Amino acid sequence: MPRYDRIVILTGAGLSAESGIATFRDKDGIWSRYNIEDVATPQAYARNPERVLDFYNMRREGLAGKQPNAAHKALARLEAEHKGEVVVVTQNIDNLHEAAGTKRMIHMHGELLSAWCLACGTRQAWPAPITLTSTCPHCTGVGRLRPDIVWFGEMPYQMEAIYEHLSEADLFVSIGTSGNVYPAAGFVAEARQNGVHTVELNLEPSEGASLFHETIHGPATRVVPGFVDRILRGE
Ligand code: APR
Repeated sequence: MPRYDRIVILTGAGLSAESGIATFRDKDGIWSRYNIEDVATPQAYARNPERVLDFYNMRREGLAGKQPNAAHKALARLEAEHKGEVVVVTQNIDNLHEAAGTKRMIHMHGELLSAWCLACGTRQAWPAPITLTSTCPHCTGVGRLRPDIVWFGEMPYQMEAIYEHLSEADLFVSIGTSGNVYPAAGFVAEARQNGVHTVELNLEPSEGASLFHETIHGPATRVVPGFVDRILRGE
């Protein structure tokens, strides 16, 4: 009999680090090389759209050849083999969870491989660079496409569904996130208020480490597979 039935898993950049995708706040992380105010706010896009588009084009191109790692694969195995419910809520904008086989997931900060047309509102798969002359295939609007990514100051996606999952869960697991950015950083407190058991798996203690019932520290590819085995054994 599994110990837990409904599992919510929050993931962050640390999960994709061992796949070769840079994190944000580690040494030489993305925010040590770029200013958030220049590339990841609506104001930055209004002020200099080309610089913002280039920043995400560079990160989209950086996805080429990146593979899901043992931690992504372990989470996909948990979803496939667990008798109850598993939902992944990722802050990551890469596609490595999907590539590993995870099906039930929410990209709360959007996706690098999606574009949002500001003329007609359509969100669509977009593996290519987005430029000032990109044309929306849906409404043929020119130069109105932006990255389908949640910038600082914007509301993350599917928040209602996320809080619904958090209220119904009996296990909340946070993997590879520094706990710096809300609302994701507040999910552990929300889960605890709902009487949910909370576990952090991270390279090192996150900002919110003290809020978790359990903390397991080490590289994701080393700690996540063993943790998944433990959950599947009903421990
Ligand atoms: N295994 C496990 N954890 C790791 C690994 C690893 N191999 N490498 C790094 N980490 C941990 C770091 O210790 C850190 O706590 O992953 C965390 C990464 O933290 P951040 O770089 O802050 O990334 P994240 O928490 O996902 O950022 C949240 O901030 O900039 C925004 O929108 C962006 O989604 C992002 C959000």
